[in-house]
Amino acid sequence: MAHSDVTIRTAAPDDGAALLLLVGELGYPMEAGILQTNLENLIHDPECALLVAEIANEVCGVAMAYTSKSLTNGRCAVIGNLVVSENKRGFGIGSRLVTELKNWTKQRGLTTIRVGSQTYREAAHKFYENLGFTKIKTQHWFQYTLGD
Ligand SMILES: CC(C)(COP(=O)(O)OP(=O)(O)OC[C@H]1O[C@@H](n2cnc3c(N)ncnc32)[C@H](O)[C@@H]1OP(=O)(O)O)[C@@H](O)C(=O)NCCC(=O)NCCS
Repeated sequence: MAHSDVTIRTAAPDDGAALLLLVGELGYPMEAGILQTNLENLIHDPECALLVAEIANEVCGVAMAYTSKSLTNGRCAVIGNLVVSENKRGFGIGSRLVTELKNWTKQRGLTTIRVGSQTYREAAHKFYENLGFTKIKTQHWFQYTLGD
């Protein structure tokens, strides 16, 4: 596959069906309606870049970045939801998506990009290290759901 066969563009509302398959591959099976709502919210969020990779008008990868803010880290970009279709991996598509997110980060005047990756995703860890990311910590996440 030639590099020029792959287009990286901002996600659009019509991408819902393809993104549903991709997030399933990432390990997050979702209801189509919930994904569609999230997609349309993110597309309109100025603090967020939601990108897709496409070959011959077929979406085969997705990645997003958003601005995170905290007292200790200030403002930095965080990458999320990065996945390339299994049969299209190893052709540089993931790297292209991350390069575009690096450009987005730079355009926003930010200098740090972070990404959380579950401990079992060893191939992804090699991928990030190959792109110059450094492992900084391992942590647990907790969730609390508010009732009515
Ligand atoms: C991680 C992922 C997005 C990488 O996408 P990709 O398009 O296959 O990656 P690329 O082809 O751009 O690879 C870039 C570099 O990363 C490294 N890399 C990629 N996959 C690797 C693997 N399985 N093992 C070791 N190194 C790997 C390679 O060294 C490659 O460099 P090279 O061009 O010198 O060979 C893809 O494998 C994927 O979707 N994995 C499943 C979902 C996932 O784990 N997402 C990350 C969530 S945090």
